[in-house]
Amino acid sequence: MFLKLQNLKVHFPVSSGFLIKKENPAIKAVDGVNLEIKKGEILGLVGESGCGKSTLSRSIMQLIPVTSGKVLLEDQELTALSQNQIRQHRVDFQMIFQDPYASLNPRMTIFTTLAEAIRTRHPQCQGNELTQRVSVLMKRVGLEPRYMRKYPHEFSGGQRQRIAIARALAPEPKLIIADEPVSALDVSIQSQILNLLKALRHDLDLTMIFISHDLSVVRYIADRIAVMYEGQLVEIGEAQALFEKPQHPYTKKLLSAIPRIAFTQTAY
Ligand SMILES: Nc1ncnc2c1ncn2[C@@H]1O[C@H](COP(=O)(O)OP(=O)(O)O)[C@@H](O)[C@H]1O
Ligand SMILES: [Mg+2]
Repeated sequence: MFLKLQNLKVHFPVSSGFLIKKENPAIKAVDGVNLEIKKGEILGLVGESGCGKSTLSRSIMQLIPVTSGKVLLEDQELTALSQNQIRQHRVDFQMIFQDPYASLNPRMTIFTTLAEAIRTRHPQCQGNELTQRVSVLMKRVGLEPRYMRKYPHEFSGGQRQRIAIARALAPEPKLIIADEPVSALDVSIQSQILNLLKALRHDLDLTMIFISHDLSVVRYIADRIAVMYEGQLVEIGEAQALFEKPQHPYTKKLLSAIPRIAFTQTAY
């Protein structure tokens, strides 16, 4: 199995009181998650705000310590590695966030941003070869390479998200976690970005966890969907089956609440 989560828990301790500290029950942000992801699969992770999606993704990437349980990537137990070893693995995981403007450095040109990301995997790469790789990446995400000397503020929201996607692809990661990558975009731009991710997945055989609070978005892109509720996965299934025959009451509730937005295959 490519990625395996075994009874994963992330609890945040909560204390209150000023002079006399009182320990409150911990917030169980992730509470016993079991999940297997195949290579080349897009797993949609859906659930309302606060249910633990981002915490789960951070714990998979070893950005926060897990309370208990295991994360295994290609049979290697990441949760057993030292901080130093984790650092060497970091390049294998890349994230795409909701707000590309906040996640891009405003003082770095697109070239610098992408060159830095490429060099995390290919430290020796420089000069013409580096420029060439930046061009290829930009074309891959539908951006004109002649804009590589521009800064993030000179691009639209959708274009910035393309830059963030290019940066995530640059280190040739094993796994991409996209955390609400289209939630801040207009609907018309959302479908362009979703179609781009679909095309990339097809061309590059990406393995991706695609997080959204919006089931219609997840349905459009995911092979399988995991439904998260209060720190737990309440239902996992093939995307189509989950839509046609939801089993859990919470999934049914989510389905009845989705807006009628139909994403269509368009040029990206
Ligand atoms: N660093 C933290 N310390 C304490 N509580 C946290 C922390 N990060 C997240 N939480 C809590 O964990 C729960 C899950 O949050 P989060 O993973 O961000 O949910 P989602 O991404 O699904 O909106 C929330 O109740 C949130 O307040
Ligand atoms: Mg979140």
